[in-house]
Amino acid sequence: MAMQLIVATNNAHKIEELRPLFVGHELLMPQDVGITVFDPEETGESFFENAHIKAETLFHLTNKPTLADDSGLCVDALDGRPGIGSARYGSNGEGLLSAEQKNTLLLSELEGITARSCAFVCCLVLHYGPRKFLCVQETLEGEIALAPRGQGGFGYDPIVYLPTLEKTVAELTQEEKNLISHRGKAAKKMTAIIGALKFDV
Ligand code: IMP
Repeated sequence: MAMQLIVATNNAHKIEELRPLFVGHELLMPQDVGITVFDPEETGESFFENAHIKAETLFHLTNKPTLADDSGLCVDALDGRPGIGSARYGSNGEGLLSAEQKNTLLLSELEGITARSCAFVCCLVLHYGPRKFLCVQETLEGEIALAPRGQGGFGYDPIVYLPTLEKTVAELTQEEKNLISHRGKAAKKMTAIIGALKFDV
């Protein structure tokens, strides 16, 4: 069933990334349906809680099905940090660090540490009625590289090494990344659920 989904973000880049993963569905931004200010406080303590806050808040504003994505990188040696704080990692309340600065900081935190396992996490929440939602959370497991490598992707991609492919995520094409990524796998499951269910929205 083709759905119109209002995506709970003001970030055009995020919508562009999600669109090829939701082929056959129409993804709109809050401003496309007249919501000029959408900035809910992400007070949750997990990817799920934050995705749910965003999707539910937008549902109540629009009364239309909404989709929210919350994602980040969890490093085991850092007890799961930066995790839900991935976007603000290292910022100390001032302006956000650039992706390159975040990667340099993370590599310095792991200096001398040999146990470098990590996982990208993506939680997708689709809110389709008052008190009704679907949720899928997926991961892409890897290791923090010793140095950044690759030009593709964004964010932490250059420092996440995939031993089975012998490449960092930034060395994959967008199509290769979508096939195995946390976001790609979560979207595949979410679209399969949407396709299988004939729920009335
Ligand atoms: P969000 O937009 O609040 O969900 O921020 C997610 C944070 O995690 C951003 O800082 C991203 O750079 C990072 N992140 C999430 N997914 C990826 C990815 O696929 N590659 C690299 N960084 C990612």
